Amino acid sequence: MQFLNCRRAIVVHIFFIYIFSLNAIYGKKKEAEVLDFLAKELKALEASADCPLKQLTKHSVRSLWLKDQLSDETLLCILKFLDANNKDDSAWSLLGTSFEKKNLKQQADYCFKQATKAAGKYTPFVKDWWFIGPFVIGKTEFDGDVLAAYGGIQNVSRYRYHSETFVSELSSGGTVKWTELKQSSAQELLKINPKVDWNDLVSSLGSMGITEWQGWAVGEFFINENDLQLSFQCLGVAKCSIGNTMLVGDLYHRNQFWFPAALSRGVYTVFIPLRTKVVANFKFSVNKMPAFQVLEPSFLPDVYNGYLPINFYLSIPVSNLMADKWLKVTKIKITTQSDGQPLDPVLISNDYEIAPGQVRPVVVHLKPESVSDARKITDSCRDLNLEFKLLTSEGSQSFKLTLRCRHKGSSFLFSFIDHDGSVQHAAAVEPLGACNNEACPVFLTLHGTTVPPQNQADSYKKMVNGEYQFGIKGMWLLAPTRHGAHNWEGPGAMTAISALQALSSMTLASEWFSVRADSDKVLFAGHSMGGHGAWHLATHFPDRTIGLISLAGWIKKEEYGESNLFFRHDISTSHTDASVKAIMEACIGENDADKHVTNLKGISVLARIGAEDRTVHPFFVRRMVRLLKEARVNVTYSELPNLAHWWWDTKEANDGGCVNDAQIRQFIDHISATSSQLDNYCSAGSQECGTSSNRYKSLQPEPVTLVTINPAFGDGLKGIAVLQQIIPLRISTVQVHNKFLFFFYPAFFF
Ligand SMILES: *[C@@H]1O[C@H](CO)[C@@H](O)[C@H](O)[C@H]1NC(C)=O
Ligand SMILES: *[C@@H]1O[C@H](CO)[C@@H](O)[C@H](O)[C@H]1NC(C)=O
Repeated sequence: MQFLNCRRAIVVHIFFIYIFSLNAIYGKKKEAEVLDFLAKELKALEASADCPLKQLTKHSVRSLWLKDQLSDETLLCILKFLDANNKDDSAWSLLGTSFEKKNLKQQADYCFKQATKAAGKYTPFVKDWWFIGPFVIGKTEFDGDVLAAYGGIQNVSRYRYHSETFVSELSSGGTVKWTELKQSSAQELLKINPKVDWNDLVSSLGSMGITEWQGWAVGEFFINENDLQLSFQCLGVAKCSIGNTMLVGDLYHRNQFWFPAALSRGVYTVFIPLRTKVVANFKFSVNKMPAFQVLEPSFLPDVYNGYLPINFYLSIPVSNLMADKWLKVTKIKITTQSDGQPLDPVLISNDYEIAPGQVRPVVVHLKPESVSDARKITDSCRDLNLEFKLLTSEGSQSFKLTLRCRHKGSSFLFSFIDHDGSVQHAAAVEPLGACNNEACPVFLTLHGTTVPPQNQADSYKKMVNGEYQFGIKGMWLLAPTRHGAHNWEGPGAMTAISALQALSSMTLASEWFSVRADSDKVLFAGHSMGGHGAWHLATHFPDRTIGLISLAGWIKKEEYGESNLFFRHDISTSHTDASVKAIMEACIGENDADKHVTNLKGISVLARIGAEDRTVHPFFVRRMVRLLKEARVNVTYSELPNLAHWWWDTKEANDGGCVNDAQIRQFIDHISATSSQLDNYCSAGSQECGTSSNRYKSLQPEPVTLVTINPAFGDGLKGIAVLQQIIPLRISTVQVHNKFLFFFYPAFFF
């Protein structure tokens, strides 16, 4: 036994020595072959060219190559460098790229083979980055590049190894130069924190906005094989490019979006346009991805009290990661359902074609399989676990979702098709108690920056006998939302109005809701950015506004904080004609709440803020109150001592706090009482318009003034609306005097 084992060990030993020496011999042979290749190519070039570099380093070779990829001098230098460093993958890739461009395919093949051996088929990240900046910003993410005067970053970055300087007004001394930074792993997030005396600039210029800067990060990465289906991710920037191929960036670090590009083998420079405040964070990643991916939906609607609302839409983002082929989504099925009546998912479009690189939300309408019942799905109101299967032209993928079931008395999320065809969601709470009419008014509350709609809805609570009571007495509570920096203007405002219509039609269609929602009677409310939203919506939809509560609301973004500075510091201030600037300002004029205050005549307003609020200073609320009083609007102003931007308890614990305390509830009661006497609208041609029962019968004798800057947004004041302007986006006013009102009634178009 012993002997046998020993003999086996010797055999194994000899075997390894044999392999080892074979490897060594083979390796030697390979090395000789590499040297042969280099010697042959060197000999061919040395006759006609000289390498101009005194020192052959990674840097000097790269620098030369960036300036001129095709000259014999460059090739000669790289060959000489490789002669001494024949394991340097980047030099092999540079050489291969040059040979490829000179149509020397055999040599190119050989070089890329060596590069692949040393570094793999592609490099998953950029190891050596170079940064130039900081420069002052252009106005938007896309315009105004200081380096454009020098042929743009594509040109300028080729000279990055020279210690060239550029003028920048942010830098002490007035110049900036290229700096190098290393990335050590694919996971690393790069930080760029330029040496600038920000404190000095902020205090001397009196502006936080000056801390916004732009600059460029560039670096090379290498693809050593053809036909790789690679995808890319640029985190922290709106866009980036690889050579001349522009890619979609991921500004908000969502971390799940990849963008495919069909790139042949070669060396590519990545251009990252940075734009940030003080410190920039970014990451560029390369990955091999499947043909497509089903991504996590960013929201899901709730089953309510065991029922499935008619507008139960799911928005499932699907990402096509093929660089040159469309993806077709054909069908969706439910393969497992944990509980309740069987559900039937239907794609709302038959042709979900997703373009190469596109992430498209696939809209699925979920309904009960049997149409007979009244959409009651479950008696128990437990969460539903569902497994779906999405079928596409590239095969299928399964994914799981859990739908919550929310009970009456608490908030629930519903989804709807928005004005732009996207699926959006909102939170709602049924009215507390009854209301005086068949349909209840809607208390439409707009959230502040980053507050989710359910949190906004749930902040309308108070403690009653040791238990929280949610919602508004006699009114539907509606808290819409929309992703992005809309400030409840433009698309954000339209989403709020779409949510209102959706709530109204949903409650109309489903008798299992105890009461309907009346989208023509709205109390607009909101806090912070939502306080601005409440000003904005009520001034543009005055005829459906029964009351207005603006809490800690600012007036216009350009004059609040310093995140939307208009023509200040940015490079366009030195180039833009005043008339162009005027057009740009006119385009956002509709968002200036203060210019529209007269539209609120006849509406009771509550404006409130904590005296210690420094997120939104009381200055802004006081200004609105001054203007409202000048316009003879019934406004109550309250500046609460010792309170700041948000609080839960105003006078005592759990009394409703910032958005729902006694003062606010009292105001809502007052609005409820007065609005129940309001009758319906008067539509053109309607019989009721001539009678005394229309909505405007109690018009006060004083004249009212309608202000419109953009006729495309909003509905009328006292039934009157501006439909077109002679000069677009100028302030248009219509003065209505009581005696003329009936004369022109019901339709009076300008
Ligand atoms: C390209 O950049 C270099 C270095 O900054 C500069 O000297 C040259 O003038 C630029 N070329 C053009 C066309 O602007
Ligand atoms: C003004 O609004 C308050 C509620 O804040 C209300 O009590 C009062 O009756 C209103 N005045 C008029 C004239 O409508």
